[in-house]
Amino acid sequence: MSKHEIEAAPPCTLFLFGANGDLVKRLLMPALYNLSRDGLLDKNLRIVGVDHNPATAGEFAARLEAFMRERDQAAGAGAGAVKCLDDKRWARLAKRIGYLTGDFVEPATYQAIAERIAKNRNGNAIFYLATSPRFFSGVVAQLGAAGLLDERNGFRRVVVEKPFGHDLASAEALNASLLKVMSEKQIFRIDHYLGKETVQNILVSRFSNGLFEAFWNNHYIDHVQITAAETVGVETRGAFYDSTGALRDMVPNHLFQLLAMVAMEPPAAFGADAVRTEKAKVIGAIRPWSKAMALKHSVRGQYTEGRQGRKKLAGYRQEPRVDPQSNTETYVALKVMIDNWRWVGVPFYLRTGKRMSVRDTEIAICFKPAPYAQFRDTEVERLKPNYLKIQIQPNEGMWFDLQAKRPGPALAMENVELGFAYKDFFKMQPSTGYETLIYDCLTGDQTLFQRADNIENGWRAVQPFLDAWREHGEVQPYAAGEDGPAAADELLSRDRRVWHSIG
Ligand code: BG6
Repeated sequence: MSKHEIEAAPPCTLFLFGANGDLVKRLLMPALYNLSRDGLLDKNLRIVGVDHNPATAGEFAARLEAFMRERDQAAGAGAGAVKCLDDKRWARLAKRIGYLTGDFVEPATYQAIAERIAKNRNGNAIFYLATSPRFFSGVVAQLGAAGLLDERNGFRRVVVEKPFGHDLASAEALNASLLKVMSEKQIFRIDHYLGKETVQNILVSRFSNGLFEAFWNNHYIDHVQITAAETVGVETRGAFYDSTGALRDMVPNHLFQLLAMVAMEPPAAFGADAVRTEKAKVIGAIRPWSKAMALKHSVRGQYTEGRQGRKKLAGYRQEPRVDPQSNTETYVALKVMIDNWRWVGVPFYLRTGKRMSVRDTEIAICFKPAPYAQFRDTEVERLKPNYLKIQIQPNEGMWFDLQAKRPGPALAMENVELGFAYKDFFKMQPSTGYETLIYDCLTGDQTLFQRADNIENGWRAVQPFLDAWREHGEVQPYAAGEDGPAAADELLSRDRRVWHSIG
């Protein structure tokens, strides 16, 4: 991300652990295809799927191709789609795809990996853990024991997917086990939100436009709302989701990344160390609530039966592989405070949920109201505060609400909008968001990856909610297709505020 001009990444062997899983076919392989379309992969890059099911390289590549073509043709394919898989381009990429049948716990698998690397002219290797998290520390220990993390003959990097731990203690333990066999410089902890153009743009907009800094503080900002609303339910992930819940799934990672981008101090440079240090500082400054305050400032919701238009939707407890008595939240709303000079007194309200009315990931920055003295005789109650909305998806862009005079002899006001939509200015290539992340890993740029302290600070800030809910954490029902339980509105109305309308 910190580069100005880009060229093909260095050669390497990229091992995809968990090769037959969803992530590889839905996101990683389309991203690799897009990178090769853009000429950003070296011709000596080799991709090796590693998994326990026996298959040949040809079978593995054919399965990936079939899946990508199916998605390509599916009307309205969303993230992960590759538009128009070109036969020749795919054939060129498919030639570099290999497969290794191996059990992640068997030392023999790692011997076979060493042999594959030895066959290549360069010793560079990336081990991408697209596996279930229970394998993370075991695979890394085996890589270490087999000498595969030794960088004497080329770089050796490990990409760790989320979830990175399920609470503070497990995240610390996982970090410790990774750092036992390699250095921080070799570890690339992924948060796919950082691969999104609009998320990266928050930093660029904030720090490259002199205008923003002047009012980006508690003198002018009343509060900030961060929303990640999804219309999907838990789909086929019931078993994973039921032991995870909305808080762990979205908050310490994706939502805190958005919070950090909005709230961090300007980094001294756009390099990995400077950016990640500022992020760690601001996430570390989130006030740790006592259990009582954590309960007061949080709402847990769970969707029940409902509708999206004419479509009837099942309740969460009726979803496949979900406990019919489950008390897992599919929605969470939180209030957090950041104890530093810039933000003291400015609440950050976070909410995320499945099966809400619309898909919308956005940050709404609400400014303090103007003193309305001169408009006393007008319809002052109709005036909304100024909001700056940064929409991450689906309509990427930024919008600023202003008050303007409605034409006519009366002094009457209306809310109007200044806007910038990405699609009006830039030709967006189809992409998965993983392109930048894979490219950055190949080139060794860690700016968009989470450092150990970023991850641990995130868990430290959500731990009080996890602890408080263990004792009293009843979920509040909301009908599928609605925007969370009524208690979430009360969380803000207690502070005389309302949620910014989504969509
Ligand atoms: C994943 C979560 O990390 O992010 C999912 O596990 C969630 O539950 C997804 O749906 C949201 O990502 P995006 O890019 O669709 O906003």
